[in-house]
Amino acid sequence: MNFKKNILCIGAGYVGGPTMAVIAAKCPEYKITVVDINEERIRGWNSDQLPIFEPGLHEIIQETRDKNLFFSIDMKKGIEEADIIFVSVNTPTKTFGYGAGMASDLQYWEKTAQQIIEHSEDHKIIVEKSTLPVKTAQAMERILKDNKNHLHFDVISNPEFLAEGSAIKDLMEPDRVLIGSHQTESGLKAAKEIVDIYAHWVPKEKIITTNLWSSELSKLVANAFLAQRISSINSISALCEKTEAEVTEIAYAVGTDSRIGSRFLNASLGFGGSCFKKDILNLVYIARSYGLVEVADYWEAVIKINEYQQERFVTNIIKAMFNTIVDKKIALLGFAFKANTGDTRESPGKYVAKKLLEEKAILSIADPQALDNARSDLSGFDGNVSYEMDPYHAAIDASAIVIVTEWDVFKNLDYTRIFERMKKPAFVFDGRNILNHQMLFKIGFNVYPIGKPALTHF
Ligand code: NAD
Ligand code: UGA
Repeated sequence: MNFKKNILCIGAGYVGGPTMAVIAAKCPEYKITVVDINEERIRGWNSDQLPIFEPGLHEIIQETRDKNLFFSIDMKKGIEEADIIFVSVNTPTKTFGYGAGMASDLQYWEKTAQQIIEHSEDHKIIVEKSTLPVKTAQAMERILKDNKNHLHFDVISNPEFLAEGSAIKDLMEPDRVLIGSHQTESGLKAAKEIVDIYAHWVPKEKIITTNLWSSELSKLVANAFLAQRISSINSISALCEKTEAEVTEIAYAVGTDSRIGSRFLNASLGFGGSCFKKDILNLVYIARSYGLVEVADYWEAVIKINEYQQERFVTNIIKAMFNTIVDKKIALLGFAFKANTGDTRESPGKYVAKKLLEEKAILSIADPQALDNARSDLSGFDGNVSYEMDPYHAAIDASAIVIVTEWDVFKNLDYTRIFERMKKPAFVFDGRNILNHQMLFKIGFNVYPIGKPALTHF
């Protein structure tokens, strides 16, 4: 079949895979190829065991794969054929050298630029899909300019706003699509090509076009604002626990103000995920590098509160259990950083598990999708951790249940049955405030929610 355009995506991860699957479904006249250096991942995308779990993803992949969506490791062919190249490689926090622990590690990003110039024979539009420091496009352009064929490349910023667990819905019905370009004739023409892709299914008024730098920076700022809301409510949860105010009542009362809004005000054991922390650290690093100390300190506090919240959650567990958890079995319900994903990157579950293990507890972890990742995250602690698909089994002989992830399946368990098979006194630490605390208390549990008074039988 002759396709109208060839789109390549470099990076077949949580963003590249779902995003390209949706573009393929919505734009049948375009050929979409997704390449990765990780052969196992590509094998996964070409099989029925997709490398990531995302509701609705499997159906779209089945609909599009090998029709106009292809997964491959052939970078050279992919680049040669492509008119438009999306780059959605990972941009983790740098762990070495200058900016270690703060700045973005752009090595994967730069390698793709080198691959693009190596294999390009004609003009291409390069789309930044990865989240990047503001002004990255400038560096990209400088690298791309230095090519043997004297080719011109247009660099466009099109950051992704999907959230894991709802990625397909977010891609199908985005709040907005952001496309940043140079305001030159060539830049605007290239931006129009990217607008045309999304216009297949996104209403025109939701496609925002800006200059390149606003687009790059907007992505970091959006994540910083979202994380800031969680840290704000989590900081208040600590105050609630001292004052008998209830954080969910406060979130409701505050969130009904239409200027504030109700979403992203769920107090928790802290936010996780691969991006909030890294993107804020990056924002902080950029602000500091421009000498904006107050700005950097302001945003850094969002991360400090998140660390404080995770630490507070663990110390509350230890304190409540009479200051020792040595040899006590504790069941962690959930390990993923949020529900509906198997992703455990920066999951608060990892922090909680490690701290409890350091205190010599025995852990049993149940999660419907994240057990493989949990196993690899806790590989050094094998002796004291077991992994269970069945939460009932995980809780047998446990002294405490800790809700880490807000999976629906944990909301409706038979907690009377669970209580009967636990050691007494039995504790519940609800790190997500998803359970019926009064009911658990009546069953006999000692209940410790987030930001609400504990219900205890002592
Ligand atoms: P990921 O680690 O799941 O996927 C990145 C992929 O890129 C990996 O499979 C890796 O092997 C591949 N890769 C790295 N270098 C390569 C190269 N030179 N050539 C080919 N492939 C290469 O990461 P992700 O979660 O998909 O995130 C990608 C980017 O999107 C990041 O910048 C992230 O901040 C951003 N983002 C992520 C999310 C999310 O929900 N995960 C949402 C919005 C934006
Ligand atoms: C987040 C953003 O929501 C996306 O818009 C963005 O594209 C993405 O980061 C990214 O750049 O990677 P994601 O991390 O997948 O998406 O998931 P969120 O729903 O934002 O949740 C992040 C963390 O905050 C989770 O641990 C979640 O449990 C926690 N959270 C969320 C709370 O503790 N309380 C809330 O009210 C909401």
